[in-house]
Amino acid sequence: MQLGNLTFQECLLLQSCRLHSKRLPLSRLPVIYGHRLASTDSGSSGGNAAPNRLNNASAKSLFLCGQEFESDDYTNLTDRIIEQVNCGLHRQRGHPLWLLTNRIVGHFNANYTRSRSRPLFTVVDNLSPIVTPEQNFDSLLIPADHPSRRPSDVYYLNRGRLLRGHTSAHQCDLLRQGLDAFLVVGDVYRRDEIDRSHFPVFHQMEGVRIYSQEQLFAGAKDSADSLRMFDRSRNRTDEQQAGHSVETSKLLEHELKSCLEGLARRLFGSSIAYRWVPAYFPFTHPSWELEVRHSQSDGGEADWMEMLGCGIVEQRLLDGCGLPNRTGWAFGLGLERWAMQLFSVPDIRLFWSKDPAFLAQFAQPCQPGADLWQPVQYKPISVYPPCPMDLSFWLPAADASFHSNDFYDLVRSIAGDLVEQVSLIDEFRHPKDGRMSLCYRIVYRSHERTLTSEEARTVHDQIAKSAVTRWAVQIR
Ligand code: PHE
Repeated sequence: MQLGNLTFQECLLLQSCRLHSKRLPLSRLPVIYGHRLASTDSGSSGGNAAPNRLNNASAKSLFLCGQEFESDDYTNLTDRIIEQVNCGLHRQRGHPLWLLTNRIVGHFNANYTRSRSRPLFTVVDNLSPIVTPEQNFDSLLIPADHPSRRPSDVYYLNRGRLLRGHTSAHQCDLLRQGLDAFLVVGDVYRRDEIDRSHFPVFHQMEGVRIYSQEQLFAGAKDSADSLRMFDRSRNRTDEQQAGHSVETSKLLEHELKSCLEGLARRLFGSSIAYRWVPAYFPFTHPSWELEVRHSQSDGGEADWMEMLGCGIVEQRLLDGCGLPNRTGWAFGLGLERWAMQLFSVPDIRLFWSKDPAFLAQFAQPCQPGADLWQPVQYKPISVYPPCPMDLSFWLPAADASFHSNDFYDLVRSIAGDLVEQVSLIDEFRHPKDGRMSLCYRIVYRSHERTLTSEEARTVHDQIAKSAVTRWAVQIR
């Protein structure tokens, strides 16, 4: 049997040679998805009737993407996040995320075509980030009690609407609409720690491709007729889903991995070192993460960086979309991560910079008609010194409920882009009254100037004051 240029045996061999070097410890599983109006049309930059805002102090409702939403006990959007909703950085020509998106799409269009060289993958880049729990979780088989649904991890407008935590939220809608190969690009939102590579708003690209039996075995030539996509006698194992034939499992895995390896090589060069790590997502099985090796700038040991999650689409998901006789694969990648690696951008906050000195560095390849692939390496404009300060406080009672993500949001809504990192550096329980004491280190740093310690102190004091008002903590 011939699979494109590979025999079936070669294909099997390739699979077994791949590196499955590391199992993910549970704590590293992305909490959300292995570990995140419903309208689909208010998303584009054009039609925002009213600016996004929390509607006054009583905040009974909020305006987002030109629509009003009632608040309830789940509402946890902050003004800063609201300002960033629907930012569309990936749609701004000249922005590094635009450049990266266009390189990826260019690669797919050049390598995957239908008849008469029409692109195989449909690109969808303007869906509203406001989705329902059904879209973000249920349609993807994420269990009702899954931790990723907690308001401590997700930005809820109210119980019925949230800011998508991943572009996978659109998989089922697009499959139901009849698309069989698509790329979704969009802004996603997660309540998370703060550091150089985490920001509560970032961008993802989702890729999905599904196959009919004929399409899947099209490369198999003579034996295509004898091959079957499904084999009801087969059970679920670590390597495959129940009911998938061996050929289906192997072929889908091969197609998926070679697609993503091709993409990584096209973007990072053919000598890039990568490895596949088994992973878990509720909506794919088997699942993997692709890690890419990058050398530390300080000359330290080389590190593996997780670049994307992917897998074979759960058959139950496809059945639910009315596609019981299709199989397929999906992947999701974080655009900032790829862009940081590709263009040597050292801090995720830089993607939000309006500083012309930053943006100008990406302008050349983004000109209409220019070569998108001309190399770009970011050169720091200048590095201003950091200003670290600690904040310690007692929670009001032994059973006080307090989540660090709430604190991170508070810090960010007060300090904005001046905060580089917040980490919990110490915690302990009072031996007598059982209260918890927490100590956070907040690193302030501006990308535009040297912060004086008085400036940082003013912001720091404001944070302390707000924490007292909000949680009745006692500053130590
Ligand atoms: N949505 C997953 C995440 O954000 C990534 C993913 C997409 C994994 C598609 C598998 C398939 O973590």
